[in-house]
Amino acid sequence: MWKKLFNRPQSNLRNTINTNHINKDAMPKHIAIIMDGNGRWAKKQGLPRTFGHQAGAETLRTIVKLCSQLGVQVLTAYAFSTENWKRPDEEVNFLMRLLSDYLDNEIDELNENQVRIRFIGNVSELADQLQQKIIHAQTVTNDNSGLILNLAVNYGGRLEITKAVQQISDKVRCGEIDSSVITEEIISQHLYTTGLPDPDILIRPGGDYRISNFLLWQLAYTELWFTDICWPDFKAEHLMQAIQNYQQRDRRFGGLKHTK
Ligand code: FPP
Repeated sequence: MWKKLFNRPQSNLRNTINTNHINKDAMPKHIAIIMDGNGRWAKKQGLPRTFGHQAGAETLRTIVKLCSQLGVQVLTAYAFSTENWKRPDEEVNFLMRLLSDYLDNEIDELNENQVRIRFIGNVSELADQLQQKIIHAQTVTNDNSGLILNLAVNYGGRLEITKAVQQISDKVRCGEIDSSVITEEIISQHLYTTGLPDPDILIRPGGDYRISNFLLWQLAYTELWFTDICWPDFKAEHLMQAIQNYQQRDRRFGGLKHTK
């Protein structure tokens, strides 16, 4: 089992994750990550882009483990967008294989550590075999009580909202919902993320400062944290920096500054 980081004595030994600057009572409940910069990381080293994605999958393993150890409730990672189909077939196929391998290789360890896997996105467009693995992963981890690992695959924020509008319109048409009582909550309930808290912090490595069609509705009051570090170079220390920075923000949600 992975050890909980806050439950062990602090130490400054090399390779030990230092949680001294993190307030364990003010942890973000939900961390969202755009895992960007894989291609540029590979290119810088004269390697094909796929090597960057492979290294990015390793980073994801590290960050999942760390979030679980820190007691984060939800980690949403953007693995494949509805726009990523525009990439060359070789790269798309590689990403799909990486996801498939991830599910094959990680499921036991994730299960053992109480991680619950969920998927957001239009997974019905993925290959049948991959869909079977996704269903299996969700089913076997469904009763776990630890970190929810929410993988965004074939995900687009605009598509998600469009689908919600279609579903709600259908319900209005058959009299299940009255259009005058469509609330923000009803819309949230028709998104892929239904039942999950909105992200507290969005982390985007790779040096770009945009949202890229990710969680458009859910990010309304999310704190944004950007770094130039490419995702394959993103380490535990960077997650700690992001959390520490998040804990210094004054979240007002449109209200007034919190006065002490
Ligand atoms: C963006 O970097 C990254 C992606 C489109 C894919 C992210 C996927 C992984 C990290 C693989 C791991 C996922 C799982 C679930 C195993 P980019 O290729 O756009 O980088 P660039 O901006 O430098 O070109």
